[in-house]
Amino acid sequence: MTEARTVVAIPGDGIGPEVMASARRVLEAAGAPLAWVEHHAGLRAMQDGDPVLPEATLEAVKEHKVALKGPCTTPVGKGFSSVNVQLRKALDLYAAVRPVRSLPGVKTRFDDVDLVIIRENTEGLYSGVENVVTPGVVMSMKVATEKACDRISAWAFDYAKKRERRKLTVFHKANIMKLTDGLFIRCSQAQADLNPEVPYEEVIIDAGCMKMVQDPTQFDVLVLENLYGDVVSDLCAGLVGGLGVVPGANIGNSEAVFEAVHGSAPDIAGRDIANPLALIMSGVMMLNHLADTEGREEMRAAAGRIKTAYNGALEDGECTRDLGGSLGTSAFTDVLVRRIQS
Ligand code: NAI
Repeated sequence: MTEARTVVAIPGDGIGPEVMASARRVLEAAGAPLAWVEHHAGLRAMQDGDPVLPEATLEAVKEHKVALKGPCTTPVGKGFSSVNVQLRKALDLYAAVRPVRSLPGVKTRFDDVDLVIIRENTEGLYSGVENVVTPGVVMSMKVATEKACDRISAWAFDYAKKRERRKLTVFHKANIMKLTDGLFIRCSQAQADLNPEVPYEEVIIDAGCMKMVQDPTQFDVLVLENLYGDVVSDLCAGLVGGLGVVPGANIGNSEAVFEAVHGSAPDIAGRDIANPLALIMSGVMMLNHLADTEGREEMRAAAGRIKTAYNGALEDGECTRDLGGSLGTSAFTDVLVRRIQS
């Protein structure tokens, strides 16, 4: 019998517990040999009297190296700082990878989108350096370091080569932010020189967004600093059916945390209507990561079974309301489990 691989589950807030329950059922049905240890973060951790990112949660991810995480709520304009930003910084999960692909049966303006967004995850305007200069005047610091700019570009070129991608594009605003974005593109250019086999281009982000919604097929791998990556991820999600279908991974040198691009969706939480697919797809990325990094090919096989099941379901119109279907979270999960088992 294959030994189970222990992974951490962090259900999170809002729709998090619902989509996590669904993802775990689907991964289990596919026969992925996983043993889950559950830890909390976000508002859910505060309910237990813990900080938003409890030490035990952080330690569990450090110990097991891999986690599947639901979204965590962050109050707007006041209160605690983002759990996600804290987690990414604490574990130095510097590369956020978000594949954005057209799905069979999901009708949008485009049917051939195949993008990978690689977002720098540790600095930029998410450094949390904000000051009150004087009453009525506040300031936020955008931080760029050569180390972080260099390693995200190197990581992105490496990814593009390994996956045989067509080209790599940096979206930036170095015409205005000459120092910070200037450093970002200089580091990318240096990596482009080292990797001449990967076609490389730079596009100013505002024009890039316009080109993206006109014809996303002109892009392939996108590399962006933190804030641009956040915004462009949601923009691109809109090209393929919305936030319910875009998975993600936050990768560092020793740990990896897999989570959907979407947030805790408080407007639909607890109603059994959220689309669990983005977290299920993040689970598929986690299985493939375990296969790639630990040689566990049985994980890749389970990932393949899940993909076949959701592609088939979507093609037959069996999907949640955000994709034009009528199924709730649990009913859609039942469909996937049945398809995997048949
Ligand atoms: P959101 O992604 O939660 O929701 C935006 C819209 O998309 C809402 O109308 C929501 O109902 C819909 N939506 C999102 N996921 C969906 C799904 N799986 N199925 C169907 N519809 C879905 O973004 P919002 O409202 O800006 O943020 C809500 C909270 O989530 C905030 O506290 C924010 O800080 C947090 N957040 C957390 C993230 C994380 O933990 N990784 C990422 C993004 C936001």
